Amino acid sequence: MGPRRSAASACGRLLLPLLLLGLSGFFQSYAVEVDIKDASNATCLYADWMMRFLIKYESDNGDYKTTTLNLSSSVTHNGSVCGNDTQAALVAVQFGEGHSWSINITKNNETYQGDFITLTYNTNDTAVFPDAKRKGPVTVLVRDPSRPIQLNTVFVCHNSFVIEAENTTQIFWNVTMQAFVQNGTVSKKESRCPADTPTSAPTVPPTIANVTTASTTTLSPAPTTGPKPVENPDTGNYSLKSGNKTCFLATVGLQLNVSQEKPLLININPKTTVADGACGNTTATLKLNDGNSTLIGFTFAVKNTSASAQKFYLREVNVTLLNRLNGSVISSADNSNLSKWDAFLGSSYMCQKEQTLQINENVQVHTFNLWIQPFLVESNKFATAEECIADSDLNFLIPIAVGVALGFLIILVFISYIIGRRKSRTGYQSV
Ligand SMILES: *[C@@H]1O[C@H](CO)[C@@H](O)[C@H](O)[C@H]1NC(C)=O
Ligand SMILES: *[C@@H]1O[C@H](CO)[C@@H](O)[C@H](O)[C@H]1NC(C)=O
Ligand SMILES: *[C@@H]1O[C@H](CO)[C@@H](O)[C@H](O)[C@H]1NC(C)=O
Ligand SMILES: *[C@@H]1O[C@H](CO)[C@@H](O)[C@H](O)[C@H]1NC(C)=O
Ligand SMILES: *[C@@H]1O[C@H](CO)[C@@H](O)[C@H](O)[C@H]1NC(C)=O
Ligand SMILES: *[C@@H]1O[C@H](CO)[C@@H](O)[C@H](O)[C@H]1NC(C)=O
Ligand SMILES: *[C@@H]1O[C@H](CO)[C@@H](O)[C@H](O)[C@H]1NC(C)=O
Ligand SMILES: *[C@@H]1O[C@H](CO)[C@@H](O)[C@H](O)[C@H]1NC(C)=O
Ligand SMILES: *[C@@H]1O[C@H](CO)[C@@H](O)[C@H](O)[C@H]1NC(C)=O
Ligand SMILES: *[C@@H]1O[C@H](CO)[C@@H](O)[C@H](O)[C@H]1NC(C)=O
Ligand SMILES: *[C@@H]1O[C@H](CO)[C@@H](O)[C@H](O)[C@H]1NC(C)=O
Ligand SMILES: *[C@@H]1O[C@H](CO)[C@@H](O)[C@H](O)[C@H]1NC(C)=O
Repeated sequence: MGPRRSAASACGRLLLPLLLLGLSGFFQSYAVEVDIKDASNATCLYADWMMRFLIKYESDNGDYKTTTLNLSSSVTHNGSVCGNDTQAALVAVQFGEGHSWSINITKNNETYQGDFITLTYNTNDTAVFPDAKRKGPVTVLVRDPSRPIQLNTVFVCHNSFVIEAENTTQIFWNVTMQAFVQNGTVSKKESRCPADTPTSAPTVPPTIANVTTASTTTLSPAPTTGPKPVENPDTGNYSLKSGNKTCFLATVGLQLNVSQEKPLLININPKTTVADGACGNTTATLKLNDGNSTLIGFTFAVKNTSASAQKFYLREVNVTLLNRLNGSVISSADNSNLSKWDAFLGSSYMCQKEQTLQINENVQVHTFNLWIQPFLVESNKFATAEECIADSDLNFLIPIAVGVALGFLIILVFISYIIGRRKSRTGYQSV
């Protein structure tokens, strides 16, 4: 029996409280289980998962703060429905002081797929948003970036994965979910998420509206001879679109250096990394999500100069690392006071050599084969590049400059010697 005419006699079970150690001490993490039954009392939609949200909000004094919104112990799932060929399935949960989350799921004859994820958080909740400037509900809508799942297959993802949308980071882990369940039985066939497959099989990145991740060039890293700790990262090509026009281009290999108890080098895998962000006239942000619990954001700005030829520069970099097993924040670093990678507006910035960006005392970002243009991209191509000093032959020019200066000095000494001689000679003559 299919899930026809589902009166949705919803039946939610209680939650599994879990005490987890987070960065900022202990906090509770709850699993949500939603088991929706159809008119014949058979399961037609099943979901069991854990999630939390990192939310950036404006505080009373105008600063932006990031808070963590966790599920509370009491979660309801009013409004969840089975769906059918014409109506989307819906998993909707409500928790805490006026917060809610939902995903609607559509099917075709072979697959089912999330359509939109809706998060509503209420900044009236003073426990979570103690000093929010604006109080009331904020709704964030984001297209589900996941790939379609075969019908009669259950989606499973033990490792955490992340969806970013307008000032929020939504973190999910330990997910088991099947919509359009057949015959009332959750399938034994599993569809695993990329984060669960350690041998990183090249996955096609999900397409997010207005965002593309271009193909990747793999600059073959030097073969591992000797005890080289980590190879250089592969170079990825990322771009952002505004409408159907490319507005941001970046080619870069990225490596993170995170020192917790001991230094840890993490290479960003371009094959699983998805670009998101926003273009603007005076600021532009590129957000990279490696699908494996690492998020890096780069914000560029145009320099406030009165000069007619304006320059852009890298103003801010933030890095968020999550525990892959429980979605807790391992590290969250932000440096919004950078002044790097500057070039004239209308050109691009290039630095092939390794560059280091210091985000805070524990986190560094190393870049390789960098070529980036955050503004005024025309016809999907990089404009003329301004190269960094490390790349240019200036290094090699320095000894020459010193040599030339020395030469000048010698000539100067020689000239003054000649003049001196001539003066003394005329001196003799006048006597
Ligand atoms: C799908 O479900 C809706 C609401 O439950 C119902 O009105 C509609 O008739 C159903 N359509 C089909 C094709 O079963
Ligand atoms: C559905 O099944 C449960 C037990 O599995 C039972 O308690 C409940 O009364 C049933 N509901 C209907 C509408 O048959
Ligand atoms: C599924 O639908 C598509 C069109 O939407 C059609 O081309 C395809 O043949 C269908 N597949 C099956 C198995 O019915
Ligand atoms: C899913 O929900 C979003 C937001 O409410 C809505 O815009 C969209 O039309 C829905 N999709 C379907 C297939 O119902
Ligand atoms: C938020 O709280 C204020 C006062 O505390 C109240 O006036 C307002 O109606 C609340 N808004 C919502 C959406 O709960
Ligand atoms: C998101 O943050 C930006 C500032 O970074 C702010 O201008 C914007 O209003 C915020 N949006 C929401 C929905 O809170
Ligand atoms: C559901 O039951 C029908 C008839 O009993 C059977 O033909 C079909 O294969 C079953 N589907 C699944 C997924 O078990
Ligand atoms: C995910 O990250 C871990 C730790 O950095 C790494 O060992 C693993 O290979 C990564 N998986 C993929 C698919 O990139
Ligand atoms: C891009 O986003 C805008 C709104 O942000 C939307 O109107 C437009 O349809 C999107 N374009 C594509 C190709 O998705
Ligand atoms: C982009 O969109 C404009 C109108 O919105 C259209 O005229 C143009 O042909 C489109 N270009 C491409 C490459 O699709
Ligand atoms: C950005 O620049 C374009 C073209 O110069 C202009 O049409 C648009 O109004 C500008 N937008 C803002 C917000 O200044
Ligand atoms: C994931 O769920 C399983 C049971 O569904 C549970 O045993 C395990 O502890 C959970 N893992 C985490 C990190 O919550």
